[in-house]
Amino acid sequence: MGETLLMKQVGIDDIATYVPKIYLDAEDMAKARGVPPEKITKGLGIEKLSIPDAHEDAATMAAMATLMLMEKNNLQPEDIDFIHVATETGPDASKPISCYVQGMLEQRYGKGSFDHIGAPETKFACVGATYAMIDRLAYIASGWNRAPYSIVVATDIAKYELNSSGEPTQGAAAIALLLKENPRLLVYEPQFTGFGTVDDRDFFRPVERTTAVVNGQYSVGCYLRDMRIATDAYKRNMVKAGMLKSLNESLMDKIDLASFHSPFPKMVQYAFASFLIHDWRNLPKWNQISQKIGPEPSREKMTDVEFYISDNYKDYRKNFTNTEEFIKEYEAKVADSLKAISLIGNSYTASVWLGVASHFEHRKDDLTGKRIGIGSYGSGSSAIVCSFIVQPEYKEVVKNIKLTYKLNKRQKISVDVYEDLHEGRRKLNESINPPKNEFVLDSIGTSETDFGYRYYKYIE
Ligand code: CAA
Repeated sequence: MGETLLMKQVGIDDIATYVPKIYLDAEDMAKARGVPPEKITKGLGIEKLSIPDAHEDAATMAAMATLMLMEKNNLQPEDIDFIHVATETGPDASKPISCYVQGMLEQRYGKGSFDHIGAPETKFACVGATYAMIDRLAYIASGWNRAPYSIVVATDIAKYELNSSGEPTQGAAAIALLLKENPRLLVYEPQFTGFGTVDDRDFFRPVERTTAVVNGQYSVGCYLRDMRIATDAYKRNMVKAGMLKSLNESLMDKIDLASFHSPFPKMVQYAFASFLIHDWRNLPKWNQISQKIGPEPSREKMTDVEFYISDNYKDYRKNFTNTEEFIKEYEAKVADSLKAISLIGNSYTASVWLGVASHFEHRKDDLTGKRIGIGSYGSGSSAIVCSFIVQPEYKEVVKNIKLTYKLNKRQKISVDVYEDLHEGRRKLNESINPPKNEFVLDSIGTSETDFGYRYYKYIE
């Protein structure tokens, strides 16, 4: 590790979130699908699904989050080096959303005002934004930056077929992260970061489709497997750095808060339970827990994924989640991250960062100096486990996140309207909530030279 990386404190200075102004109630969806509402609200942990309006796509959401971030920090284009977008729902296989965002911002800041920026796009399912963030922070830490700030924007629309098992986990949101040296919110700890990557086919979206192909239960197993590989790497790095004396110590004792990628909140409970079983099984306190839940099931002749989705393991994990030891740790360190997520649904690469925003909005205790762990997962597949330290100035910064306020202001739509939007039966100008002070997708090219090209404009 280079000396500069260790010496420079880099991280997240501020966060801006964007959620569409309409939502579908999970109970309404359950009724329409003939499913018990509790299966979605309790079984998956979802209460509301954020639905993009007719004029929105992943690029408008990214541009809105970026504009908000700039406005609330009084930033000018020359303050910014990079606008780096991460998404898995980009409309174009060649042109990155970041360049469309650049064009939209120039409609506000003047033609040519952003022509100096770098504007790449990173794709790796739901872990893309975490990869983009590490790239940009490394760039700032290296001293190569010419302007003080870089922006990473995570933007996604989670969309599955109507009537599919993934349908209740849909959602949409964008989140823009402002990155700089000596940030006010979160300082990154690069020396501990762990990765876990396996070439797999749990979830993917071939270019000709707008909905994902997913093997639901299998994808849960891949998430747990990769997260375990990345966590082991993170833990080894902590031992190397002297933060833990040995691998037999608890990693969770060093983490004060955690945010995991959340395709649906129950998945985070599965992930946190699997993580604690792995982290605690060699500790003296595990004997007491074992007495309550019995021995861990055998893994013999099973791959990791087979084991994680086997009935025996699921029952064992469920028994563990009912213990007071699990509940205490979960409520203290994880539960607040899911309060916003249960009102949004899946937002793919934005989700783990919305979990961070949710923590900041719901935690009332002083978080200064606390370590926040990030468990980021993307299908295909890769996990990143990393951490940050909350900075003393964070309280002033988080006052302006206002995610809960935005979520409470949304308009509910019926299942019929949702299905029309899902199937593209509404024209771009047939929005449910007429746009005001926002970027819209105005038209899509149809001629030989602009077929499929997207035209955006700002509506005052
Ligand atoms: N009342 C209360 N709870 C109920 C219930 C009822 N009437 N009926 C069922 N439940 C509970 C079940 O017991 C289960 O909870 P436990 O696991 O605690 O037992 C929970 O509801 C879910 O039930 P199922 O597992 O039977 O649900 P399912 O198979 O219909 O759907 C899913 C789950 C397969 C994950 C589906 O939502 C899906 O395909 N989602 C898309 C893929 C996905 O999100 N994968 C996650 C990992 S991959 C990833 O993270 C990347 C990404 O973003 C896609």
